[in-house]
Amino acid sequence: MSSRVEVGVLGATGTVGQQFVRLLANHPWFDATWLAGSERSEGKAYADAANWKLSTPMPEAAARRIVQPPTPGKGPKLVFSALDANVAGELERAFAEAGHLVVSNARNHRMDPLVPLLIPEINPDHLQLLERQRTDYGWKGGIVTNSNCSTMFLALALAPLRTFGLTQCNVVTLQAVSGAGYPGVPSLDILGNVVPFIGGEEEKLEIEPQKILGSLAGDHVDPHPVVISAHTTRVPVIDGHTEMVSVDFATKVEAADIRAAFASFKGLPQELGLPCAPAQPLVYLEAENRPQPRLDVERDNGMAVFLGRLRRCPVLQHKFVALGHNTVRGAAGAALLNAELMQAQGLL
Ligand SMILES: NC(=O)c1ccc[n+]([C@@H]2O[C@H](COP(=O)([O-])OP(=O)(O)OC[C@H]3O[C@@H](n4cnc5c(N)ncnc54)[C@H](OP(=O)(O)O)[C@@H]3O)[C@@H](O)[C@H]2O)c1
Repeated sequence: MSSRVEVGVLGATGTVGQQFVRLLANHPWFDATWLAGSERSEGKAYADAANWKLSTPMPEAAARRIVQPPTPGKGPKLVFSALDANVAGELERAFAEAGHLVVSNARNHRMDPLVPLLIPEINPDHLQLLERQRTDYGWKGGIVTNSNCSTMFLALALAPLRTFGLTQCNVVTLQAVSGAGYPGVPSLDILGNVVPFIGGEEEKLEIEPQKILGSLAGDHVDPHPVVISAHTTRVPVIDGHTEMVSVDFATKVEAADIRAAFASFKGLPQELGLPCAPAQPLVYLEAENRPQPRLDVERDNGMAVFLGRLRRCPVLQHKFVALGHNTVRGAAGAALLNAELMQAQGLL
């Protein structure tokens, strides 16, 4: 008998679902005993249902599991969701009503005022909203979400800059094709090309950080006032979203102070030694041509955000580059870290 907590994965066969299956295979606290997919997959062995795209072998225990239908009330109390956004809204709510704690990657419930949009290094106190889901919505379980993948790296980079009176941010993203799931963007659209549009992405990048960086005020979050302008593009990179960020502040801020704030930034996951926590959430690379997705995205198990090229901006005050692994820290790894924090705080 395993003493680990049994967990399930909704959307286990997809791009993010596969990262869940990989990361959960040897997890010290969680045991993935229930994998669910759509009608296309249910009843099949996971090995036959999942079109495995990771460079590490499919974990043996997962390969043999029979993919289950996504039926609320079935499966363990804690379920991770890597569901397609077209179905995640209703299904996740039904699971929460049936008593499951849903830790989700999907966008559907992120901006619900009573749903924590959680990044454990930044806003662990927002988990207090879970209690309001029970009293106000009558859910026996609950929903906790992680942010959009590009938001994740931007919010982590901006978090230590709040102390300087952060007022404005301009960000241009260069996003990997794995961010669109599988099969994603057709090869003839992306090879040798840059696509300057990702549906709905700019809106998420402009709004989600305000909630994440905001302050809990009883039954809601007061958004942080930073104004963000985002351009998002899809580029022919497999994994890793790069972001070109400019920032402005209420008063003049020295680059050395920003560097020091990046270097000293840590949170509860580091303090508690959570299994998926990177030693340093923000890692500054000194070389003038880094970070790069091919060279840096797998470092620190894909859980850190890599920064570089901090320099003066002639329009706003400073500019820099950020890079993160979109399906790990931007998705499955982020959800695991959220659940680890909830376990450490006795919420599971
Ligand atoms: N890719 C990223 O970098 C990334 C980053 C952050 C957040 N997200 C979000 O994470 C979620 C998953 O993204 P993805 O890239 O992994 O997508 P994906 O590869 O298209 O996978 C979608 C998953 O949803 C399942 N599904 C679809 N319709 C279903 C239904 N009616 N009932 C039950 N399951 C159903 C699929 O199951 P079958 O395979 O059995 O059909 C599959 O497992 C999305 O909400 C996405 O926006 C993705």
